[in-house]
Amino acid sequence: NAALKELLTATPAHPNNNIPPHITERALMEPKLYQISPHPLYLIKKRIEDYFKVVGHNVNSDEGFVSMDSMAPIVTLEANFDSLLIPQDHVSRSPSDTYYINDEYLLRCHTSAHQVQLLKQGHRQFLCTGDVYRRDDIDRSHYPIFHQMEGVKVFDEDATEEQVLDDLKATLEGLAKHLFGAEAECRWVEEYFPFTDPSLELEVFFDGEWLEVLGCGVMRPEIVKNGLGKGDSDTLPRAWAFGLGLERLAMILFQIPDIRLFWSDDERFWKQFSEDMAMDGSATFQTYSKFPPVYKDVSFWLKKNENDVVTFHPNDLLDLVRGIAGDLAENVEMVDQFVNPKTTLESQCYRITYRSMDRSLTNEEIDELQENLRSKIESALADKVEL
Ligand code: PHE
Repeated sequence: NAALKELLTATPAHPNNNIPPHITERALMEPKLYQISPHPLYLIKKRIEDYFKVVGHNVNSDEGFVSMDSMAPIVTLEANFDSLLIPQDHVSRSPSDTYYINDEYLLRCHTSAHQVQLLKQGHRQFLCTGDVYRRDDIDRSHYPIFHQMEGVKVFDEDATEEQVLDDLKATLEGLAKHLFGAEAECRWVEEYFPFTDPSLELEVFFDGEWLEVLGCGVMRPEIVKNGLGKGDSDTLPRAWAFGLGLERLAMILFQIPDIRLFWSDDERFWKQFSEDMAMDGSATFQTYSKFPPVYKDVSFWLKKNENDVVTFHPNDLLDLVRGIAGDLAENVEMVDQFVNPKTTLESQCYRITYRSMDRSLTNEEIDELQENLRSKIESALADKVEL
């Protein structure tokens, strides 16, 4: 782990490196949010572990589920993509979606990156929790770092695909009831993941809507074979896997309105949670007073490269906004778009909503942030846009 962490801060950075300092800092942060009692992510994780009757952590056991939660978020492209049969042209491989360290390592974008590794270590039933990283929108439910829990269960050679699928569905419907209450209504929706077949999504009817809760499926046998180290044997080893987002579950269960709150050190947030809530789902988060937003617009022309192609991606702007405004950035959206018919150049206008979760902002501090942002756009995105 220490050697992996060193990769993150190695200088000079590899030309593929697209990780801003505010992400590096969080990737190195320990303990992880889900390791701190009574953080809501800790509570949800504990409730899930309770359901799976976890027999231990970081141990090798075939008696029940083990729960791993301290694997570094730095993994190889092979682990994150290739070992899961994710095609070369899949969007998740794009540097506009994923944080790359160099041409061999990246910040994992899902905990599935550890499936094969943990199978190779001999685990046959495990949960694996970790921080995952995605370049994504800025709004109340998206954050470049969130936390996932993966579950994998391997079956005996003679299990049929149907048995595995039935076990998967029964296990996860049971989990949904454990989390949402015995009366929770569930439904299964067909999905696509490159590493499972069939692939499904579980939805739960909660508060008047159907909500996606997790993705899962029967693992592709090539992946399981690789994990179990059974090169050319004829039998198809079978296993199921699921992956869920802890923030999403916590936001639904505790009615937490903004994903930034998970990173807050405000005691008005912390004091609403307690260790005993790991066992009981009834608590509802009380929003403390909401502070007023400040809106600022920025617009620029998108430059074209020598091949006449626009190279700007909105996530380039979002990383700058996060880097400068941190958790004061609540939302960024494109509010206007215009193509000059003569030059065929496009201009885009983005509206940034600044709002603190715990205090009122002053106009001066936001003007300063916005000025910083403009000069950062000018320097860091010089070859992509023009203010
Ligand atoms: N890794 C998938 C995701 O992040 C979730 C998943 C895990 C799906 C395991 C199927 C099996 O969206």
